[in-house]
Amino acid sequence: EAAEKGGYEHFMMKEIHEQPKVVADTLNSVLKDGEIDLSGVGLSAEEIRNISEIQIVACGSAYHVGMVGQYVIEDLARIPVRVELASEFRYRNPILDKNMLVIIVSQSGETADSLAALREAKLREIKTLGIVNVVGSSIAREADNVFYTLAGPEISVATTKAYSTQLIAMYTLAVQFAKIRGQISDEQYMGYIKEMQTLPDKIRRILEDKERIQWFASKQMNAKDVFFVGRGIDYAICMEGSLKMKEISYIHSEAYAAGELKHGTISLIEDETLVIGVLTQSALFEKTVSNMVECKSRGAYLMGLTTTGNYNIEESADFTVYIPETDEHFATSLAVIPLQLMGYYVSVAKGLDVDKPRNLAKSVTVE
Ligand code: G6P
Repeated sequence: EAAEKGGYEHFMMKEIHEQPKVVADTLNSVLKDGEIDLSGVGLSAEEIRNISEIQIVACGSAYHVGMVGQYVIEDLARIPVRVELASEFRYRNPILDKNMLVIIVSQSGETADSLAALREAKLREIKTLGIVNVVGSSIAREADNVFYTLAGPEISVATTKAYSTQLIAMYTLAVQFAKIRGQISDEQYMGYIKEMQTLPDKIRRILEDKERIQWFASKQMNAKDVFFVGRGIDYAICMEGSLKMKEISYIHSEAYAAGELKHGTISLIEDETLVIGVLTQSALFEKTVSNMVECKSRGAYLMGLTTTGNYNIEESADFTVYIPETDEHFATSLAVIPLQLMGYYVSVAKGLDVDKPRNLAKSVTVE
């Protein structure tokens, strides 16, 4: 097993470090002569033009990818997107338009609820697309179209590299749908592709600074509750950061849309409660800062996660982590890295079983 871990102490850390490569591999798998080509996925230009609505269905981290996808696809391609947990979708008697595209996101391709949701959509003759990592898995076999993520085998129960490849798959769909539906210029299109190609290197740069996160995580290992707050795409990032924290470190954590804090959650803030604000979206920066300050005035200890250059965050935050600049649609791919590291290092500091957290399974094939 030591050999399989490639010199790392845990599979999770090995998989975190594989992210630059697997993100690049997944992106390159749909690039041809510098442009996105979805013919391997099986979606024709005509089908893309005809999509009336998109319904994304998934569980766990894959659902969080769907949340990001909703913001990015709606903003770039202007197609209405709804995201739903597979366990809810399958029992809702959903109203599905015949020109809808149902996207099922699943690393394993075997999650029982996600598979049931796929079958429900197929029963109603709705076009389905699986974003799947495991070749030949049930969802990959049964979906009309498959976008394979090239994360390779993921051993750690807490997903990292599969999540990152699902994100890049989602971005390429958004950019290609936007282009085909005439929502962006050729110049913008090429700009987005170029920017996506810079993500692996930027992830590598964040990983070079991991000791700083390790130091902070060791200081926070006895936290009782952690709140992750953000708006828009940053809220979706918070959902994944919070899941990483709770699943492997057993610290209670929650993700909140920052504007919602004052409707209840703020009453939970006590002296030294850790509040992590995610701020990658410039239009929402000031709004989230002011929500963070409201927490601070009630005793919270603030960590800010933002883009290089936003140095005025240091006027409010007690600890700040910067990620490299990128197009704001793609910021999740960078901001999630320090949050994966936070969960990992807190778990290690507490001496927990990082790769096999209690009560959890890698693939949930029962309801
Ligand atoms: C489990 C895993 C999660 C994963 C979820 C969905 O709960 O622990 O990491 O996000 O299942 O799995 P899937 O294979 O469908 O992506």
